[in-house]
Amino acid sequence: MIHSQIIGYGHYLPEKILNNVDLKKFIDTSDEWIYTRTGIKQRHIVESSQLTSDLAIKAAEDALLSAKIESSLIDCIIVATTTPDNTFPSTATKVQNFFKIGNIPSFDLQAVCSGFIYSLQVADSLIKSGKFKNILIIGAETLSKIVDWTDRRTCVLFGDGAGSVILSATTEKRGVLSSKLYSDGSWHDSLYADGGPSLNQDVGKIRMNGQDIFKQAVNKLSESTQNALNECNLNISDVNWLVPHQANQRIIQSTAKKLGIDNNKTISTVEYHANTSAASIPLALSCSIKKGVIKKNDIVALCAIGGGLTWGSCILKL
Ligand code: UT7
Repeated sequence: MIHSQIIGYGHYLPEKILNNVDLKKFIDTSDEWIYTRTGIKQRHIVESSQLTSDLAIKAAEDALLSAKIESSLIDCIIVATTTPDNTFPSTATKVQNFFKIGNIPSFDLQAVCSGFIYSLQVADSLIKSGKFKNILIIGAETLSKIVDWTDRRTCVLFGDGAGSVILSATTEKRGVLSSKLYSDGSWHDSLYADGGPSLNQDVGKIRMNGQDIFKQAVNKLSESTQNALNECNLNISDVNWLVPHQANQRIIQSTAKKLGIDNNKTISTVEYHANTSAASIPLALSCSIKKGVIKKNDIVALCAIGGGLTWGSCILKL
């Protein structure tokens, strides 16, 4: 029986930091409002010349280093992103070209903030098919480029960054133990970009009904995580770490409470990274593993929700 385990983790954050006080210089907001409503203190922001592929490549280099494997061993690349460099071709092909890995499939996956969880399930299935051995998965975003910097309801929430993992075939029973993916397109208008190639030939800006999403998030994140636990016959008490999508500290805490897991077993990086969409989970994972917080053999539950709506959960044994 083939299983898929994560053998390397990496991340990259742009150097420039925009904190809540900086935001006050151009919108009517306060550090107090942002921090109490979201838990966010700061976000990393790219320079205008930096592209999503630049962030993706740096995170991938870091993951390859940690996995201690040559890039030539990678046999598929998946980039989860909502902010690709171009409408086409995919950002994944730019990553592939950088590493000069010839004749392998590379593609972008669009599931907004759930993009990393979706990619993990796709990569796990590809590995279990027996056709692939080492898949590079990257979540990378430059959301600052599609944020409306005059809309205080959304612009304070997002940041830029990238996280990456290398998923590899193994005969050991570890790695991806189960995953559950969902979508419900009837929520389209609650969180979307008001542009697109077919719609108006513009990339558009982020538009969100925050309260709609907030209400959906806690229920959907906790239900899908419970369903993923049921699928691999584990209980929440077996979970060492919950690594939820990093959108809002209140959503993170309420989800943990609903699932019945302590806050001190819940990873939160939202204070420092804000919401980096598809990058948020691999970023949080990589940071926590590099700090020695999450360790080998830990059972980790991942969960995310984003535009679509799309949502899902994944249970891992590291
Ligand atoms: O990754 C995708 C998933 N997205 C999410 O998970 C986001 C989910 N939603 C949320 O996190 C929250 O709904 C927000 C943080 C977006 C908003 O928090 P809220 O407690 O739902 O606030 P609200 O939208 O009800 O706004 C309350 C007040 C409003 O003023 P009035 O109408 O009551 O006078 C807003 O205009 O806060 C005002 N407000 C702000 N004030 C200062 C909204 N944004 C700001 C701001 N600074 N940045």
